[in-house]
Amino acid sequence: MYTHEDLARLQAQSLKMQGHIRRQTFSPENTKTLRRFSSWEVSELILGVNQSTFRGRLAADPSLPMGEVEPDGRQRWFSLDEIGELRRRLKVNRRSLLPARPAGKRAFRTAVANFKGGAGKSTVALHFAHAAALDGYRVLAVDFDPQATLSHAMGLTDVSEEFTVWGIMARDLIRETDRMNDGAVGAASGTALPRRQIPASIRDMGLDGLRHGDFVKPTCWPTIDVVPSCANAAFVEFASAQYRHLNPEWSFFAAVSRWLDALGDDDYDVVVFDCPPAIGYQSMNAVFAADMLYVPSGPGYWEYDSTTSFIGQLAEALEDLANGFDGTFPAGKVALPKSFADIRFLMTRYEPGNDLHRAMFEAFRKVFGDHLTQHPIEMTRAVEQSGRFLSSVYEIDYREMTRETWRRARASFDRAYGEFRDAMLTAWDRI
Ligand SMILES: Nc1ncnc2c1ncn2[C@@H]1O[C@H](COP(=O)(O)OP(=O)(O)OP(=O)(O)O)[C@@H](O)[C@H]1O
Ligand SMILES: [Mg+2]
Repeated sequence: MYTHEDLARLQAQSLKMQGHIRRQTFSPENTKTLRRFSSWEVSELILGVNQSTFRGRLAADPSLPMGEVEPDGRQRWFSLDEIGELRRRLKVNRRSLLPARPAGKRAFRTAVANFKGGAGKSTVALHFAHAAALDGYRVLAVDFDPQATLSHAMGLTDVSEEFTVWGIMARDLIRETDRMNDGAVGAASGTALPRRQIPASIRDMGLDGLRHGDFVKPTCWPTIDVVPSCANAAFVEFASAQYRHLNPEWSFFAAVSRWLDALGDDDYDVVVFDCPPAIGYQSMNAVFAADMLYVPSGPGYWEYDSTTSFIGQLAEALEDLANGFDGTFPAGKVALPKSFADIRFLMTRYEPGNDLHRAMFEAFRKVFGDHLTQHPIEMTRAVEQSGRFLSSVYEIDYREMTRETWRRARASFDRAYGEFRDAMLTAWDRI
C-alpha cells in the first residue's frame, strides 16, 4: 500500500534529478536570456521593411541603433530594445512602424482557455505574447495555472505564492471587505451590512501592504511582464471556497479584473491569460476579466468532444455568475453578468497532410463558423525544445535548426498571431 509519504519520497527523488538537469543545462546564473535578432529578421519579419531599404536607412543615419556584428558573421544582430528604438524612429513611406492601438483605451485582455489538458493553451499564450512584443506592443502575461508552464517558459521559476493571482485574490478579499465594513460604518440609515471579520491568519500574510505593481515581474523580454504562478498556488481552489465563505458579498470572480482595472491605461497594450485545464475559481477569474476568449483545441475527435463540453460548462458557469445565485456552479451572492467582445476557436497541432485533421477542421468550421480562425497552428518540432525554460519559435535562433523548419513554424505562428491581432483590433473598439 502507498500513501502520501511514498509520493513525497518519489517527488524528492525527482527534485534531485531536476537540480542535476538544471546544473547541466544552464548557465551558473540559471537565468533565461533573450537572444538578438538578425537584420534579416528585423527588417523582413519584424518591421516589415525591405532588407535593402533597412540597410540604406542605417547607413544614412549613424545615430540609429546599429546592433552588433558577430566576429565571424556579416549580419548585424539587434536587441529588442534596439528594435523598439528603430520602430519609434523610422518611418517608411511616411508610415509609422508603431503598432495600431485605439486611442484612450486600456490594454486589451485575452483569456486562452479550454479545460482540455494539453490543448495548446500555454503554447498559444506564450507565442502570442512573444509575437505581440515583436510587433511593438507592451505585454502583460498572467499565469492562472499552478502548473506554471507559462511562468517557467518566461524564465520565472522561484516564485512564492503570495505573488501569484492567488495573492491578488486574497488581497482583494481584505481590501473589499475593509471597504464594505467602512461603508457599513458610514451608512447611518441602519440598513448597513453586517461587519465581516477577516481572520488573522489571512491578515498577517502582509498582502494588504503589497503594492499594486508587486505582483508584476519583469522577464528577459524588455517589453513583457508576467504575473507568475507556482505549484503552491494549487491550494487556491480550496482557499477560495473558504474565503468566499468569510464574506459572501465579496464579488470574488471579479478580483483579478479589479486588479487589472487599477493598472494605468497606458501601462500595457496586450494582456494575455494562460488558464489551467479546469473550470474553477482561477480560470473563472481569468474568463471574467477577459475581453476576448480564445479557445485552442487539438485536431482529434476527443479534443473536439472535450471542447464542446467545455463551452457548455462555461456557458452554465457564466449563467450562474450572471444570476448571482448557486446553480450548478458556486457563483455566490453577487450577480456578475459577463459579455465578451469576441470568442475565437483556434485549432492547434494541426498536420496539413493528415486527412483526419482536415476533416476535423471542416467539422469545426461547420459548427463554429466565423468564430473558428482560418489558420490552424501547425504541429512542429520547433516548439518541443526541452530544457528548463521552454522556448518559443521566436526565441529559438534559426541557426540552431534547419532554416526551413524554423521558417515554417514561425510562419504558422505568425499567421495565427496576425488573425489574433486583427480580432483584437476590431474588438478593442468595442470595449
Ligand atoms: N504547434 C505545436 N506543435 C508541436 N507541439 C505542440 C504544439 N503546440 C503544443 N505542443 C505540445 O503539446 C504539449 C501541450 O501543449 P501546452 O502545454 O501548450 O498545452 P496546454 O493546453 O497549456 O496544457 P495544460 O492543459 O496542461 O495547461 C506540449 O508538450 C507542447 O510542446
Ligand atoms: Mg498550459
